[in-house]
Amino acid sequence: MTDSITIVDNRTGESREIPIENGGVAASEWQKLLPGIWFYDPGFTSTAECSSSITYLDGDNGVLRYRGYPIEQLAEKSNYLEVSYLLINGDLPTSAQFSEWEHEITHHTFIHENMRKRFLEGFHYDAHPMGILVSAVAALSTFYLDAKDIFNEESRSKQVIRLIAKMPTLAAAAHRFSVGMPFVYPDNNLKFAANFLSMMWKTGEFRLEPDPVLTRALDLLFILHADHEQNCSTTAMRVVGSSHADPYSACAAACAALYGPRHGGANEAVIRMLTSIGSIDNVDAFVKEVKEGHGRLQGFGHRVYKNYDPRAKIIKRAADDVFKITGKNPLLDVALKLEEVALNDEYFISRKLYPNVDFYSGLIYQAMGFPLEMFPVLFAIPRTSGWLAHWLEMLGQDAKIARPRQLYIGTEPRDYIAMEERK
Ligand code: CMC
Repeated sequence: MTDSITIVDNRTGESREIPIENGGVAASEWQKLLPGIWFYDPGFTSTAECSSSITYLDGDNGVLRYRGYPIEQLAEKSNYLEVSYLLINGDLPTSAQFSEWEHEITHHTFIHENMRKRFLEGFHYDAHPMGILVSAVAALSTFYLDAKDIFNEESRSKQVIRLIAKMPTLAAAAHRFSVGMPFVYPDNNLKFAANFLSMMWKTGEFRLEPDPVLTRALDLLFILHADHEQNCSTTAMRVVGSSHADPYSACAAACAALYGPRHGGANEAVIRMLTSIGSIDNVDAFVKEVKEGHGRLQGFGHRVYKNYDPRAKIIKRAADDVFKITGKNPLLDVALKLEEVALNDEYFISRKLYPNVDFYSGLIYQAMGFPLEMFPVLFAIPRTSGWLAHWLEMLGQDAKIARPRQLYIGTEPRDYIAMEERK
């Protein structure tokens, strides 16, 4: 058996053999036989846009690995900053490398005072924190003009550190502003997740020492959300980055992609759905409505996973630890019942619809006191390291500017008609 396919142009009888490499066939080879005949693939459901060595995802078997390491092991043994180093650099850090990485990130958490005083305070009082974040990340590019120097390795590394470090500061600032609370400066004595919680919740106390169980749970959620190969926001990062825009502008585009309810907004949608269901007695009726085409079961289904999302399994277990501290989220029972009903229902079984990462993460965030509007923001904080890893990889591969083709289905040429003569 040869690892190749043969395509035949039935109009001419000409054929071409194309090798199958790394699970794909090169469209450039197809073009040699069929110039001007494009692959029609809305939503890129059958297209690999790049080759990548960052994240491995086997959706049929529910497998997720960062740089070869199973997500289960990273979730159990690692921490978010170590994982961000792994994603960016390709290998786990030595102890000395980790100390330096942690020091660098910790000492780039402050934002320019103008960012806080003039930029953030310019938003309307009830602005959505994710809208603030999208704009604030884009605005960072105006503070770091060296960021345009994207082929300078030193400059690139500096922007990577700045972005990973400043995301929690911007995220917490967006929340504080939207609820009328004063900004809290980063505390460089705290670790990454604890520092973020301090900036979120600190009020009159000298120093806020967040609960270690909740801090660990948040760090775990950061690990699980750090990367997920070519998802919608990572694709946005790569597409904008392929024009050689600076990384802040590309990252703002990725944040914007994450804002939508089909992507980073899904866990917010889950909580709204569970709240509207209200009680386990209403679950059957709700599932019936979904099957009749009225809405979707939020937090279920995935473009790639046709099995239980491994991240959802880990989060479900972590939820117990959080609820021991915060008290059980009253929506948990509805979620468990909903999962049970859906996993035993032919509609969901035949379409291979399983809980995804968002089904349980919102319950934890809500129990920890985060408002629903902060959920996509909480997703953006760790995903920044994934976005940047892909951006660096793309630049290293000297990728072409993203510029897909279309199949034109509009009108044939026609002549302009003066307005008074139009019917
Ligand atoms: N509830 C009910 N039916 C569903 C759902 C759902 N959540 N998801 C898919 N389906 C059905 C859909 O109606 C279709 O049925 P039919 O073949 O009869 O028309 C079939 O399953 C295939 O759906 P699709 O829309 O073609 O699948 P997709 O790969 O384009 O969409 C998805 C993937 C994640 C957008 C979708 O499953 C969905 O809308 N889920 C709910 C939102 C959600 O939880 N999003 C978070 C994704 S995980 C976090 C992330 O990576 O960002």
